[in-house]
Amino acid sequence: MTGHVASVDLDQLLALARDIAVEAAQFAAAARRAGVEVAATKSTPTDVVTATDRDTEALIRERILAARPDDGILGEEDTARIGASGLTWVVDPIDGTVNFLYGLPSWAVSIAVVEGPADPTSWHALVGVVVNASTGEVFEASAGGGARVSGGGVPGAGAGAGAGPDAPQVLHVNTGVPLGRALVGTGFGYAAERRREQAEVLLGVLPRVRDVRRNGSAALEMCALASGRLDAFYERGLAPWDHAAGALILSEAGARVGGPRGGRADEELVVAAAPGLYEELVAALADAGEGV
Ligand code: IPD
Ligand code: CA
Repeated sequence: MTGHVASVDLDQLLALARDIAVEAAQFAAAARRAGVEVAATKSTPTDVVTATDRDTEALIRERILAARPDDGILGEEDTARIGASGLTWVVDPIDGTVNFLYGLPSWAVSIAVVEGPADPTSWHALVGVVVNASTGEVFEASAGGGARVSGGGVPGAGAGAGAGPDAPQVLHVNTGVPLGRALVGTGFGYAAERRREQAEVLLGVLPRVRDVRRNGSAALEMCALASGRLDAFYERGLAPWDHAAGALILSEAGARVGGPRGGRADEELVVAAAPGLYEELVAALADAGEGV
């Protein structure tokens, strides 16, 4: 797979993003083994940041700028860097920080490179990588190049089932699943009022689906959907770095990915599922009071 968008070789860009994300995941995992504590709180007292979130983002920025000094960077833990190349790296150094803090295995490094404005409603995602540091799985996609997972070798893991630890597997979302049999991933924000609204929507959705999962990392939930381990995903209030890589991996795995009122995924809402189920879920969300 070789593509050229904005005069960039997508294979090379993906390889760079993969190398940086894998190094960052190993760095963060080593730091976790050495110990972890809350460094500060952000939007609310439960929205925490650890020194490792910051150190990992610093490492990622250093690696990006060493290789591509003209690119912009939009990361969770530092101020945005405006680039001159037209490309922006959208970085979540640790998605699932609360899991990271508690020693739960569901956290990931998420890195995407986008072309155009640093805004999910108008950018064009070029490559995306999500690394699950606990399983070693590397989920990745490039625009028009499909989505794959490698590493991990997790038994029974959807598209990776039966594969050796390093054999890349092409990702496909599950198709033909009706809403009533859909396993749906979702998540909740950090603000109390946002959570109240999310719980109210969930009241309407939960009786209409197989069940709901919340693993604490939107990036990994989106990769789980791309791998057939979930059938659908929605969440209100995700930041661009939470869903930039996951959304590309999902659309390359055959999902429809969208946002509020028929538009693109944004900070208000992300919805994803195979076509057909997507529309059923959107209708159920609307019935439940979600602003779709
Ligand atoms: C959070 C996770 C979580 C989602 C929250 C995000 P963070 O990101 O993705 O699953 O429900 O909305 O903020 O804070 O761990 O990087
Ligand atoms: Ca995040």
